[in-house]
Formats: sequence, structure tokens, C-alpha cells
Amino acid sequence: MRVAMIGTGYVGLVSGTCFADFGHVVTCIDKDAGKIDALNAGTIPIFEPGLQDLVAKNVAEERLFFTTEPDDAIREADAVFIAVGTPTRRGDGHADLSYVYSAAEEIAGLINGFTVIVTKSTVPVGTGDEVEAIVRRTNPEARFAVVSNPEFLREGAAINDFKRPDRVVVGTESEEAVEVMRELYRPLYLNETPIIVTKRRTSELIKYAANAFLAVKITFINEIADLCEKVGANVQEVSRGIGLDNRIGSKFLHAGPGYGGSCFPKDTLALSRIASDAGSSLKIIDSVIEVNAARKKKMADKVIDFMGGDVNGKTVALLGLAFKPNTDDMREAPSIDIVEKLQAAGAKIRAYDPASMEEAGHMMSDVLFCDGPYHAIENADVVVIVTEWDQFRALDLERVKSLLKTPRVVDLRNIYTQDYMNAHGFEYTSVGRSY
Ligand code: UDX
Repeated sequence: MRVAMIGTGYVGLVSGTCFADFGHVVTCIDKDAGKIDALNAGTIPIFEPGLQDLVAKNVAEERLFFTTEPDDAIREADAVFIAVGTPTRRGDGHADLSYVYSAAEEIAGLINGFTVIVTKSTVPVGTGDEVEAIVRRTNPEARFAVVSNPEFLREGAAINDFKRPDRVVVGTESEEAVEVMRELYRPLYLNETPIIVTKRRTSELIKYAANAFLAVKITFINEIADLCEKVGANVQEVSRGIGLDNRIGSKFLHAGPGYGGSCFPKDTLALSRIASDAGSSLKIIDSVIEVNAARKKKMADKVIDFMGGDVNGKTVALLGLAFKPNTDDMREAPSIDIVEKLQAAGAKIRAYDPASMEEAGHMMSDVLFCDGPYHAIENADVVVIVTEWDQFRALDLERVKSLLKTPRVVDLRNIYTQDYMNAHGFEYTSVGRSY
């Protein structure tokens, strides 16, 4: 099949590359000439394990192309994917759909023969209807169907998530379009991936409901963690105790400093707006948004309390800045709130992250970015583990102790245990674990 992918951001680039690897001929289109030149020169603009090699392989095998000129690729395509950004519109939390709609207009003028237009971007319920109306208005003769096909890719694990998904969701009432979508995803039949076909609006809602549910799950366990600290319980044991119940499931029950990233914060906000616009309230989601935002700030208070209520003039060493490991993404990362609040309380910040320091440099000031974890720790009064990168899981604790002014560790990801740290001579606190 021939695929045109509009937008070479995270979703477009991963999806386009994986479709090419399935054997389809894929052209990725972006207006940003610098990005396309870089991609053609083999430079990948995002940090995603395995992506560079997969792009190189499919470019070499002539199944993957990058261009700023959409005309030929869209004309020849069986399916045109819209994978442009849908940022939060300033001020009101709605998703900004202007990139989606201008892509629809562009596609309308070019399609040739029956073409499936697929929204991969996360879009509010009803966006597919609007895309369909735009295409019909712009090109009344066109033969096409608009399909919703949401992505469920985790940063850092995106290739695996694309190639071995739990399910593929296809939202359309066009049989012809379903056949094209089945053909595109045919390699997944081998591992019997369920393909769920629904009406388009349902599919659009599935994406938001999935992300919102996961955000609820994380926020739930984070609140239980706070309770554990108050009543002498251990949240990791609670997570295991409830997670083994199949109805609950053990994933996304790790307590921490609050969720961040490009999806959960944006999508929970957008879903809340979708619901209120529809005259239906989603109180759980509204609470989750509020609780999570407050939690990120509360993590700085945790450090301050641990330091006896005062960090003025103290040096805090942060290990990890990205919102999670294996990404350089700093969007909505808890580290941003933590740094801001600690600095306001008079602390000096040293920090190390294996991938995100360049990004972080645009988002925080007066932070000394260091060459490695041990450099960050030098002469600090306390270490705060913010992101659970593997390289922080087995630190040389004797070395850490000798570099610190005082042996204190705040572990916001629960990667060490109280007993172990105490045995190594550290004062230690973590999230939701009284023991
Ligand atoms: C998420 C969804 O998982 C993906 O399906 C969707 O398409 C995009 O959003 P991503 O944002 O890349 O993916 O990261 P994810 O691994 O889901 O983590 C999101 C945030 O939740 C991170 O800040 C992470 O630290 C936090 N988290 C996750 C927890 O605090 N506890 C958990 O148990 C799981």
C-alpha cells in the first residue's frame, strides 16, 4: 500500500517508519524544510530508542521517503494520515485543531481515486466530521472516507507499542475504508492483535478515555501513597496487593511525583473541556487534573520538610529531569515545578539527566547542569531522584556518601528501599512507604 503521513512529529515519524517496516511505501511530509533535510541526512529530531536504525533501514530499502512537497505522495496514496500536533489552545484547555484542518484542506485538493484519510492525531470527538466536511467542501468530486485511528504510543517504547499493540482501533462506517485499514495493519494478524471497528466518534473518544483512565489510575495510587505515609503503610505493597486482582491490573500503579509528558496533561484537560461543552460533567477527571498539578509542587515541599523546613542556601542535586526515563521530553515534567519551588525557597540546584538537559535548559534558569550523577552530587546537601533512569538504580553509594555534604536522599520514584539506604548510612525518604 502507499501511505502519505502528514506531520513528522513524534507520532507521524514513528507510525510512518513502522508502516514502512511492515512493507508499505511511506512518504512523510512536513512543512519544516529544516526537519525534512535533517531526516534525509539521517538525523532523527526526537529521542526514541531504535528509531534511528529503523528509519535508516527503511530509507535504504526505498520504502520510506521524506519531503516538503505533498503533491505526488498524496495523489498516489491509498491512505493519507494526519499526524500533526494538537496543542492545548492558549487560555481554555481545548485542543487547537488548526493544523488538522489545514492538512484536511491540503489533502482535499490532491486526492485521486478512493482515498482513506486517517486522523492519527488525538482529536476531540466530532473532528472527523469536520475533516469530512472540509474535504467535501473543497473537492465535491472526491471519493474518500475519514477514519479515526488513534495511537497509543508511549515515548521510549513507541516502536514496540506500534508493532505489538494491545489493540488497533478503527473508527469508520465505510466498509471500503475498513478493508484498507486491515491491509495496512495486516502484519499484526500474525500475533492476533484485536482490531476494534467502531463508529468514528466512539473511536475518537476511546483515545481520550484510555489516557484519562491511566491518569486516574496514577493519581489514585499517588493519593493512596500519601495516605500510606500517614497511616504507616507501604504503597508498593498496596499496589501489588490490588494489582494482582485481574480487574484492576498491576500496571500504572507506581506512585511518584505526578504524571507529566505530552499526552496525559493535555488530553485530560481536553477531555474535561469536551465533556463540559457537551453538558456532561467528568468530575473524576477534573479532580485528577487538580490533584496532579498540586502534587508536582508538593514534591518540593517534601524535600523542604525532609531538610528540616529550610533549604535556604542549601544545594540540592536532582537526578533526572525528563518526565520519565528513555526520553528527552521535558513537557509538563514534575522537575520543572520542583526546581521552581526549591529555588524560590533559596536552594541552589545542580542537576543531571542523561538525555533532557538541553531541553531543560530552555525551561529552567540558574541550574547547574552536570556531567554525570556523581558530578551533580558533589558537595550537595541532599540528592533528589526525580526520574527513574536505569543508571540511577545502582549508584555506588559509598561514592555518593563521600561526595555529599550530608548523606540524605529523597527518592521520588521508590527505586531504593528504606532498609538498604539506612544500612548504607543514608537518611532516606521516598513516596508512600512508611517502611
Ligand atoms: C502515554 C500513554 O501511555 C500512551 O498510550 C499515549 O498514547 C501517550 O501518553 P507517555 O506520555 O509516553 O504515553 O508515557 P507513560 O509511560 O504513559 O507515562 C506518563 C506519565 O505517567 C509519566 O510522567 C510517568 O512517570 C507517569 N507514571 C506512569 C507514573 O507516575 N506511574 C505509573 O505507574 C505510570
